[in-house]
Amino acid sequence: MTDMTGTSTMRRFSGKSVLVTGGGAGIGRAVALEFAKEGANLIVADVDEAAGGECVDLIRQAGAQGEFIRADVASPDDVSALFATIARSGTPLDIAINNAGIEGHVALVEDQPDANFDRVFAVNVQGTFQCMREEVKLMKPRGAGVIINFASIAAHVGFAGLSVYTASKAAVLAMTKSVALELAQSGVRVASVSPGLVQTAMLERFFAADANAKQQMTASLPLGRPCDSYEVARGVLFLASDDASLVLGQTLNLDGGWAYVKS
Ligand code: NAI
Repeated sequence: MTDMTGTSTMRRFSGKSVLVTGGGAGIGRAVALEFAKEGANLIVADVDEAAGGECVDLIRQAGAQGEFIRADVASPDDVSALFATIARSGTPLDIAINNAGIEGHVALVEDQPDANFDRVFAVNVQGTFQCMREEVKLMKPRGAGVIINFASIAAHVGFAGLSVYTASKAAVLAMTKSVALELAQSGVRVASVSPGLVQTAMLERFFAADANAKQQMTASLPLGRPCDSYEVARGVLFLASDDASLVLGQTLNLDGGWAYVKS
């Protein structure tokens, strides 16, 4: 539903409590703000305090409730503290968006340092796993909840220079399927999204070394442009809504058809 200005007037998430990891900037911020517009109360977790604070200001300006909790999802201590704070608040966690992720070092496989493998897997795989484990502990006893993990189209297709990142996102796809099956009859639904090229700081970093590559890749996209964070966010909200009750373990490609060009 939209009003005369084309703005969504749906409020599918009124009063729902939503956690967005990596919610300070980029796609995570867009997801948090779209949930806020639809009446949700947001918990924004991010390693970047300034970005997280800015996002919470925007959430409040949109008339919703927002709280920032600093957490590096790769730190088991931070993750424990984050979920202890959520549990102590007494407010049930309805929806969790495990969006925090890094692209890591872009390089050919022979130039990939061990430290890059460790960090990318610590954030993208272990971080997603640890958050999901804590989310399940909160949601399963209540028999309700939705968990959405961030994979990537890069997990479905080869991507030169991103062997470590693509492997980490394939792991996210795989664990999402397994945990979704574990929880299928519990009332907790788990799924993932696979964005294509999305215009964020991550994409700018990726193309920083090669402006030509950006131009060439953009020209190859079916839409002729990268995806916008807010378009991705609206796909995430659909997946978190009751309309997606049969989408379980699957990934929703939010890529403007790019996977079909790449595969
Ligand atoms: P971004 O780099 O623009 O923003 C990421 C946000 O996550 C930042 O606020 C950052 O501070 C936070 N963050 C990073 N590491 C963190 C950690 N260890 N703990 C907590 N917060 C952390 O990235 P973008 O583009 O918004 O990406 C979001 C997700 O979407 C990531 O999982 C990424 O892999 C995925 N994705 C992005 C695509 C793109 O083209 N931008 C394409 C496909 C997937």
